[in-house]
Amino acid sequence: MTDQAPAPYAGPERVLSGVQPSGALHLGNYLGALVKFTRLQHEIDTFIFVADMHAITVWQDPAQLASQVREITAAYLAAGLNPKVATIFPQSAVAAHAELAWIFNCVARLGWLDRMTQFKDKAGKHKERESVGLYTYPVLQAADILLYKATHVPVGEDQKQHVELTRDIAGKFNHDFDAPAFFPLPEPMIEGPGARIMSLRDGSAKMSKSDPSDYSRINLMDDADAIAQKIRKARTDPEPLPETLDELKDRPEAMNLVGIYAALDGRSNAEVLAEFAGQGFGAFKPKLADLAVAKLGPVGEAMRDYMSDPGEIDSILAAGAERARSAAAPTLAQVKKLVGFWGA
Ligand code: AMP
Ligand code: TRP
Repeated sequence: MTDQAPAPYAGPERVLSGVQPSGALHLGNYLGALVKFTRLQHEIDTFIFVADMHAITVWQDPAQLASQVREITAAYLAAGLNPKVATIFPQSAVAAHAELAWIFNCVARLGWLDRMTQFKDKAGKHKERESVGLYTYPVLQAADILLYKATHVPVGEDQKQHVELTRDIAGKFNHDFDAPAFFPLPEPMIEGPGARIMSLRDGSAKMSKSDPSDYSRINLMDDADAIAQKIRKARTDPEPLPETLDELKDRPEAMNLVGIYAALDGRSNAEVLAEFAGQGFGAFKPKLADLAVAKLGPVGEAMRDYMSDPGEIDSILAAGAERARSAAAPTLAQVKKLVGFWGA
């Protein structure tokens, strides 16, 4: 044993991320995740999947699940993911995710999972009634990422803790099996104006699929009228927009709308304020609504187009699954060997 830090991971860079097929996608998913995937596919080898195995950690109607997977795929394509460039696939079609997750269940410690805030938020007061899968959810997520030796994981702010857990699992695996630098320690990619879009009804809660109020979020499939109406009804305060970001610190709803404008327009919050300082929401909201309709309208339309041809989506998913299986196989084979499994 030496005290030297292990050699850093030397493999190629790779991006991996996924979204659960557990409800309609909203503006937070679009800005926090889909837009980033689309940009990254041209820079780094990119794997994007539909996390159906994660979705069933809470009840999903079996009659709906496959069509929800197609809907997320349609959203990926509508946002600009190109199946010839990125590998797009359904998680459950690659059995290696489950196999690696089991091994990682034996690497991760209970104490690490006990700290996961998403489980605490989802389980609330009745954690003994939740599925075991919901508890080990972040371990499956680590398997998703490390199966492809992904180095970069584009996600919204709420997933940061899960990527940090993935780093801990990778580090412990590398150490326990005496394979320094076998797995990379992946980096979350969170920065950017869309990292944490808040509810339109409450600036302290994130925009979420599970919020009972549909007015809290803009869905990717909302039509122009719905988008405009939700923005008109968004909670705000009576003050005009200030000149500096500092003055927005204690105005979470105002901050959120400025952030949404900036993210949709590819500008910084400061640039948006420079344009709108001194104007009230009566003036700002219609501009935001126009921008949102202009940017999201075509995405919703493209989604509808893709969904009208489920056969085409299925062939994209089947081809992606094939590619993903080939990429995953060598990692799983090496892991089995390191663990000492029979026949590996
Ligand atoms: P989920 O809907 O939980 O499967 O999330 C899919 C992706 O969207 C993940 O990368 C999340 O971090 C991201 N995401 C979800 N909600 C938001 C939000 N309100 N703001 C920014 N990103 C989000
Ligand atoms: N947990 C993520 C979410 O709810 C979805 C997800 C599953 C994921 N596996 C992943 C994201 C691997 C990034 C990488 O948003």
